[in-house]
Amino acid sequence: MKLPIDRFKELRTPFYCYDLSLLRSTLQVIKDEIAGYPFVVHYALKANANPVILNEIVKTDIGADLVSGNEIMTALEAGFSPIRMAYAGVGKTDWEIETGIDNDIYCFNVESVPEIAVINEIAARKGKIAGIAIRVNPDIDAHTHQYITTGTATDKFGIDIHNLDDVVDMARNLSNVHLRGLHFHIGSQITSIEPFMLLCERINEIVEHYEKMGVNFEMIDVGGGLGVDYKNPEENPIAPFHDFFNVFKQRLKLRQGQTVHFELGRSIVAQCGVLISRVMFVKENSIKKFVILDAGMTDLIRPALYHAHHKIVNLTTKAKEIDTYDVVGPICESSDVFSNDEKLPITRRGDIVAILTAGAYGESMASRYNMRDLPQSHFIKS
Ligand code: LLP
Repeated sequence: MKLPIDRFKELRTPFYCYDLSLLRSTLQVIKDEIAGYPFVVHYALKANANPVILNEIVKTDIGADLVSGNEIMTALEAGFSPIRMAYAGVGKTDWEIETGIDNDIYCFNVESVPEIAVINEIAARKGKIAGIAIRVNPDIDAHTHQYITTGTATDKFGIDIHNLDDVVDMARNLSNVHLRGLHFHIGSQITSIEPFMLLCERINEIVEHYEKMGVNFEMIDVGGGLGVDYKNPEENPIAPFHDFFNVFKQRLKLRQGQTVHFELGRSIVAQCGVLISRVMFVKENSIKKFVILDAGMTDLIRPALYHAHHKIVNLTTKAKEIDTYDVVGPICESSDVFSNDEKLPITRRGDIVAILTAGAYGESMASRYNMRDLPQSHFIKS
């Protein structure tokens, strides 16, 4: 991504900057990888629901993966087709369930027995049949940060695999839900393919188990979670989609007519977005030097919340001389730190800095804490 520093100087910072060409190339790679397979990709809006981003994604065949009624409404407004919408989440309000049913979304990914009962009841009241997939907790450790692992037995997500027979039985006997299949999601920012291989094995076992009982599923949703390269984003701007989809192409035993659904968020949008900020002050104490930015954890919470490290580039200076800084934001929280001991060229007040790989879970997790303004977004087509 080539960042137009001259244009940036005039703009109010901080702001998100999105490279729409990179987004388009990413979408094209996905399209090419899934061509000829019964694969449906849903974009997880929670990663970034900026309307311009959604407008690019909706131009492809991609569906939507949603986690709230407002996300359903946003996806509809953006033009996503309800027959390509999956709606997940451990806690869905009645209004949110109604919104899904009224708009005939493809599938509710259900996470508990009482939820299935409520969906059935609301659908019955409306004279409709709601498509559902049971979210199975497959008890697989995705070896990612503990806050973003979702598929182990102690996580709140999904239905315990040991109770699955009863739940499948229950769902099949209700008249206003249609059990389409099973849903899995084992975590996010997964950087090795091994957990996905394990997932395929687990799915094959489960599908076989039900086949023997005469239960066939029309779809399997394998969730999202493909990781991106936060260390070398410039070298690897596109996630390893080939290796990822290959695991499922090679290892998942598909039945006649069965479709496989993916819910990708981060891997679609992370690298096309950067957070641009201005250095307000550089200060020094007896131990450290601090670069104080006008962007903070309110604009990109990942470092504060998960100790994530995003690459930081000083766009202003070409100085060869390097110094070591703690790069921090202005928020009144000690965790408002982008990076400790970051090596940067000698940095000065007024320099423009880019924090890379901020397209996913940056803007969508922004808050107005400290009554700060939400950053604007700008777009480049490099
Ligand atoms: N499907 C389900 C059911 C999910 O819970 C998630 C993400 C996704 C799909 C999309 O996962 P992705 O492809 O983006 O990994 N805020 C955290 C990530 C939280 C992910 C939550 N669920 C972060 O900034 O790392």
